[in-house]
Amino acid sequence: MSESSAGRAFEDRILAERARLRGSPEKLLARVEESDAGPKSKEILRRTIANESTGNLAFAIFTCPPVVERARGARMWDADGKEYLDFHSGFSVNILGHCNPEVNEAVKAQLDKVQQFAELPCRVRADFVEKILELLPWDYRKGCQITVTGGEAIEVAMKLSRWYTGKPLIMTQIGDYHGRTAGAMALTHKASMYQYHYPLLPADSGVFRFPFAYCYRCPYGKTYPSCEMQCVKAVEDQFKSKEALLNNPAAGVANVAAMIVEPFQSSAGYIVPPPEFHQGLKALCDKYGILFVSDEVQTGMGRTGKTWAIEHSGVVPDLMTLAKSISNGLPISLVLGRKEILDSWGPGAHSTTYAGYPVACAGGVKVVEILQRDKMVEQVAEKGKFLADGLAQLRERHPLVGHFDCKGLYAGIELVRNRQTKEPADKETSFVSAACLKEGLIFITSGYYYNRVALVPPLVISRDDLRQGLEILDRALGQAEKKFGIKGS
Ligand SMILES: Cc1ncc(COP(=O)(O)O)c(C=O)c1O
Repeated sequence: MSESSAGRAFEDRILAERARLRGSPEKLLARVEESDAGPKSKEILRRTIANESTGNLAFAIFTCPPVVERARGARMWDADGKEYLDFHSGFSVNILGHCNPEVNEAVKAQLDKVQQFAELPCRVRADFVEKILELLPWDYRKGCQITVTGGEAIEVAMKLSRWYTGKPLIMTQIGDYHGRTAGAMALTHKASMYQYHYPLLPADSGVFRFPFAYCYRCPYGKTYPSCEMQCVKAVEDQFKSKEALLNNPAAGVANVAAMIVEPFQSSAGYIVPPPEFHQGLKALCDKYGILFVSDEVQTGMGRTGKTWAIEHSGVVPDLMTLAKSISNGLPISLVLGRKEILDSWGPGAHSTTYAGYPVACAGGVKVVEILQRDKMVEQVAEKGKFLADGLAQLRERHPLVGHFDCKGLYAGIELVRNRQTKEPADKETSFVSAACLKEGLIFITSGYYYNRVALVPPLVISRDDLRQGLEILDRALGQAEKKFGIKGS
């Protein structure tokens, strides 16, 4: 092969790869026109495609995304008046239901008082921080730094941990999602993080990843609990060897600032690990002087039947990151935890124009008040039992359901073609999702192998709505089994 043809082959390959990743307005438009969306929805979708980037998320999670016109509680209506039951909550955001009247009233009142003035202190901000710190059950002096998005909170947790400990490395779990800003992207474990940053990688090389305890498909081929937590032992080994970067065993000097982990893995499929996993990791953190940071952006605020998902393992985190649900939909995020750590840096160490947006703080005060007043966490734990029972019945009836995780109103269902081989049922999962959407049940699918159904309804959802959602899912699973010839094994 001549030098120029070798170069050509390389360029052709890169161009072909890019073409596979590239979106096209024409292709998106075709999906819209072929869909059974109503005329008003289609008109809005056409305008969206004409003016917005093909990088928009909506078309990545739906073949043709619904156009939401209005929403209330656990119900949404599209531009053509079609009604949906929401088992998605905008990625676990609208915990108190869409347009919660009490939260909205507080928000409107604040809008008329003072809306935004850089990051200056104000009463509602002070009220909000006090209120949210009441939700931390741990027995240490608490504080927080306010940010705007989940990804930004992660950036602050990374920066602050490194500053506080003076160490360079951050450890995280394979499969974790921590956001898509440059720093957070270094922790997020997704092929698309790299593909779309070609030819530059996320610049942060001080990141070490280890496998998550995804027990249904154990990365070490073991079975819980006879595995004796091989996943923790494998991480521990990385501290013992001279040929590993986490630690200098001879000098007794570790190089790790923080372990930043999702307590349950959300975007990877709503997967719940056994409690011993994070207990074991926390013991390593204590041994080597590493901060333990629980990213509760999706799992926090009562979602899992405890206020924080990390409480299921009894681990006390040094820091936590929080976003999404804290103001029931208004953009605000937080890094919370030990005040000693949060007080270790100087004024202006981190800032962003909209941090502590007073309107979002007003919503946040009301959200916490409602959580406390209505004993929402206990309610979620109860509703979670109802949901788990329903999912257990679906597993009995449908061979397509290989396994499910469910804690509170946080559930991931793994669909497989065969329960023995656990072959991931990816096409079947897309089919089930589309069939449910047609019947008016909205949720997202995810999973390491595109084969998990994720159910995260608003925490205020009624049992009747939960039952109705499960019935729709039941029918869709049956249709998928018929279409793809899935039989019990
Ligand atoms: C666990 C977790 N951390 C961080 C983020 C990033 O949050 P944001 O999208 O607000 O930047 C997400 C978003 O889905 C998340 O699920």
